[in-house]
Amino acid sequence: MCLIPLLTRREILEILIKGLQRLEYRGYDSAGVGIDGGNSKDWETNAKSIQLIKQRGKVKALDEEIHKQQDIDLDVEFDVHLGIAHTRWATHGVPSPINSHPHRSDKTNEFIVIHNGIVTNYKDLRKFLDSKGYEFESETDTETIAKLVKYMYDNRENDDISFTTLVERVTQQLVGTSCLCVLHLAGGTLSYCRLGGSPMLIGVRSDHKLSTDHIPVLYRSCKFKSLSQMLSLFKCTITTVSCSTAKDKKGCSTLPRAAQDTCLFPVDEKAVEYYFASDASAVIEHTNRVIYLEDDDVAAVVDGRLSIHRIKRTAGDYPARAIQTLQLELQQLMKGNFSSFMQKEIFEQPESVVNTMRGRVNFDNDTVTLGGLKDHIKEIQRCRRLILIACGTSYHAGVATRQVLEELTELPVMVELASDFLDRNTPVFRDDVCFFISQSGETADSLMALRYCKERGALTVGITNTVGSSISRETDCGVHINAGPEIGVASTKAYTSQFVALVMFALLMCDDRKSVQPRRREIIHGLKVLPDLIKEVLSLDNEIRKLAEELFQQKSVLIMGRGYNYATCLEGALKIKEITYMHSEGILAGELKHGPLALVDKVMPVIMIIMRDHTYVKCQNALQQVVARQGRPIVICDEDDYETIKNSSSTIKVPHCVDCLQGILSVIPLQLLSFHLAVLRGYDVDCPRNLAKSVTVE
Ligand code: UD1
Ligand code: BG6
Repeated sequence: MCLIPLLTRREILEILIKGLQRLEYRGYDSAGVGIDGGNSKDWETNAKSIQLIKQRGKVKALDEEIHKQQDIDLDVEFDVHLGIAHTRWATHGVPSPINSHPHRSDKTNEFIVIHNGIVTNYKDLRKFLDSKGYEFESETDTETIAKLVKYMYDNRENDDISFTTLVERVTQQLVGTSCLCVLHLAGGTLSYCRLGGSPMLIGVRSDHKLSTDHIPVLYRSCKFKSLSQMLSLFKCTITTVSCSTAKDKKGCSTLPRAAQDTCLFPVDEKAVEYYFASDASAVIEHTNRVIYLEDDDVAAVVDGRLSIHRIKRTAGDYPARAIQTLQLELQQLMKGNFSSFMQKEIFEQPESVVNTMRGRVNFDNDTVTLGGLKDHIKEIQRCRRLILIACGTSYHAGVATRQVLEELTELPVMVELASDFLDRNTPVFRDDVCFFISQSGETADSLMALRYCKERGALTVGITNTVGSSISRETDCGVHINAGPEIGVASTKAYTSQFVALVMFALLMCDDRKSVQPRRREIIHGLKVLPDLIKEVLSLDNEIRKLAEELFQQKSVLIMGRGYNYATCLEGALKIKEITYMHSEGILAGELKHGPLALVDKVMPVIMIIMRDHTYVKCQNALQQVVARQGRPIVICDEDDYETIKNSSSTIKVPHCVDCLQGILSVIPLQLLSFHLAVLRGYDVDCPRNLAKSVTVE
């Protein structure tokens, strides 16, 4: 039997609540915990008093709700305990306590379940279970799982069926991408499965030596026994972690010499704690030793022993899961002196772009090396076209760099929103190279598109910020943008780093073409001076705050530009929408006369981006069209463009940079503007309503 040092229920709840708080930045709308009820070695007794506490809104509201409970003794001590916690982002059913997780199998709470993702066949399952007399309490798809576990348990062929087998059987009935955690409190056993799409890891904490540093994967079920202990944290999405073995995409650097051990446990039966979580930041303050689960893995803890099972054997399966040591520092996740993570991340950009280029751009000899692409670059150079696929801000990074990619690669470049790309069943061929741009590396639409392209034989390349993420692991090769953890839901530094990474790729593609060398040198010089120019733009913060004071009560803002700066308009408008809830639209200035001009009058706030590049004259025309309709646009322009400055009532003057990098400098004022507008309007900058940092559902 494994024991934890005695902990009070108060301490256990604190661990669970704190774990959820570490994941709050992801965006969610309700939260819940499930804890066992008593301190008896008799699990039947404990289960009878099991508590499910759930609340709509913030984790803080859940914590308050816990402390309001009259019948919970917070001082009771445990040497063995099971607890689960979850934050939910509503997909089926409104945010409410009843729809929050954990969900239960029945009124006795025999099994409780938390789950990420969507069960797409839940309607059929629910209909079936309804017909068998199982009563549903919520509108969620997740509750179907809890009821299905109970149904399968009630109808088991004999009492020897292990809990792991039971969970495996249930997962085989579920369609969709998800991971789930099922607790059988009456049996004191927890099972945790990754069914595809959703990341999962297990933190292991013990002061004692562990039996192995690799856990072999079992293709049979362990017999169900009755006693185990752990604390479990669970959340809808994953965050940035850095892993010491991240170079190995399978998460296991070497095979265990002797794979006789089938479970992990501390030798001499000493205390051990297991933290099951969908995000390393929830466990990092307890342990930096973690195991990442692969799709279709089922992990179980029985008698304090952790084992990993797989439902079916497939060719290419890696036979073990390694314990990895995370290098993630908690301080990396802290806000520092900033009022929000988003603000901190905006101001980190002079350093984050340097980190993206570190060890990759050599400014002495104007060369670019991307270690992650070196084995594939020849194949990429031979391809027929490049397709950049992404969602949200990451899509805008594709739009922003399309032109320089076309110029330097001389290939056709398509930029696609992942969801639309899939909806269209877009033709993809073996000689296409498909890029997946994603901060989190977990966005479901992008991941689905990746699998779609892989099936069609295209080479897949990831541009991700999250080492070990699904996109990073499933792409054939790629570039980690190394921007550091991005916590604010509205992406800022990841955008500029994606931008830089794609420009570096464009430079790499043409490094042996003589005719483009002057252009390459010009761009590499632009990359060199970029951090200092970003600092100059950030020094405009006060000026931009004043502008926000003039604008924050408006309902709408139009942002217009063209060429290299069109992406800035889209991205600026997305930032404003995401965190200020104002209507905002990014408009291609060339399209102005084909519709949007109708919106312009003397009251409509308009921001125009006019830079001294090949579109300058056309942008001036657009400015005239707006001014002629009594519009009074705020113009983001080059600091030495005296002509525009003279003719405009309001300008934001940014330093000049090489044309294809100018978008990095022009987007920062809009990041700052959206931040100040949100603060002035009194909104939570880091956790905007209805949005999540990492959207792991389609
Ligand atoms: C790697 C190391 C970095 C080290 C450098 C020294 C990692 C994660 N990075 O960086 O710490 O300083 O070598 O030479 O260990 N990949 C994908 N898809 C993606 C992103 C990356 O498949 O979306 C793959 C790459 O093809 C590569 C590996 O992951 O095989 C690491 O990529 P990246 O971190 O970009 O490589 P380096 O810059 O060489
Ligand atoms: C979500 C976020 O919709 O996913 C956006 O709210 C983000 O901010 C988008 O741009 C794509 O995310 P990722 O992680 O794939 O870059």
